[in-house]
Amino acid sequence: MTRRGALVVGARVHAGDMPRTTYYTATTLDGFIADPDDSLDWLMRQDLDEEGPQNYGAFIKEIGAIVMGSTTYEWVLAHLEKSGEAWFYSMPAWVLTSRDLPVLEGADVRFARGDVTSVYDDLVAAAGDKDVWVVGGGDLAGQFADAGLLDEVIVSIAPVTLGAGRPILPRRLDLRLVETAQNGAFVTARYEVDGVLTEDRPSE
Ligand SMILES: NC(=O)c1ccc[n+]([C@@H]2O[C@H](COP(=O)([O-])OP(=O)(O)OC[C@H]3O[C@@H](n4cnc5c(N)ncnc54)[C@H](OP(=O)(O)O)[C@@H]3O)[C@@H](O)[C@H]2O)c1
Repeated sequence: MTRRGALVVGARVHAGDMPRTTYYTATTLDGFIADPDDSLDWLMRQDLDEEGPQNYGAFIKEIGAIVMGSTTYEWVLAHLEKSGEAWFYSMPAWVLTSRDLPVLEGADVRFARGDVTSVYDDLVAAAGDKDVWVVGGGDLAGQFADAGLLDEVIVSIAPVTLGAGRPILPRRLDLRLVETAQNGAFVTARYEVDGVLTEDRPSE
């Protein structure tokens, strides 16, 4: 993959054989991945073609390691407890937290804290020839972007506005649109991360 000359500021130049780091998520039209109470009810009720563009099944086949923040992890634990399902990730999962959190039986969960750069090396090693998924939330994806370690954002935009909630990516970044489609109720889009917003870059 090549990047346009001046646009590598704050973004990693991808070596081609390195795992890609992708933030794959769903958002409201006004840029929230969860409501202020961490509810995803607005998302779960949407029409979706599970075989359609940017579907989860095809995406997850290419993922060798995942990373998430503790709010997301606790949402997954609560969801599994409610539904009675088992831990559904087969690849190693890193959870960023400053707290001691439980682990479900059979789940390969590793905890880390602090600078995401050190976690990144473990993620890449675990991913092997597959890619790394930043599950969320938005600030964690932002921490990877700050370190120049976020390659792409794949987003499904639900036909919903919430007015408030957990922001999708609370940073000032330039992204480059590479793909769009419709899947059921969603607009799907894939972006390469070009780096910090042009207006924020030091002048030459
Ligand atoms: N729409 C979607 O597809 C989608 C996808 C993913 C998530 N979600 C939802 O979006 C919401 C995201 O919540 P959120 O924005 O609060 O983000 P989050 O990233 O899930 O959790 C944030 C928390 O993780 C811990 N953390 C993050 N970075 C850390 C670091 N470098 N070192 C140590 N700890 C760190 C901190 O808590 P502690 O240190 O106190 O543990 C922090 O408050 C959740 O409700 C989730 O379910 C939606």
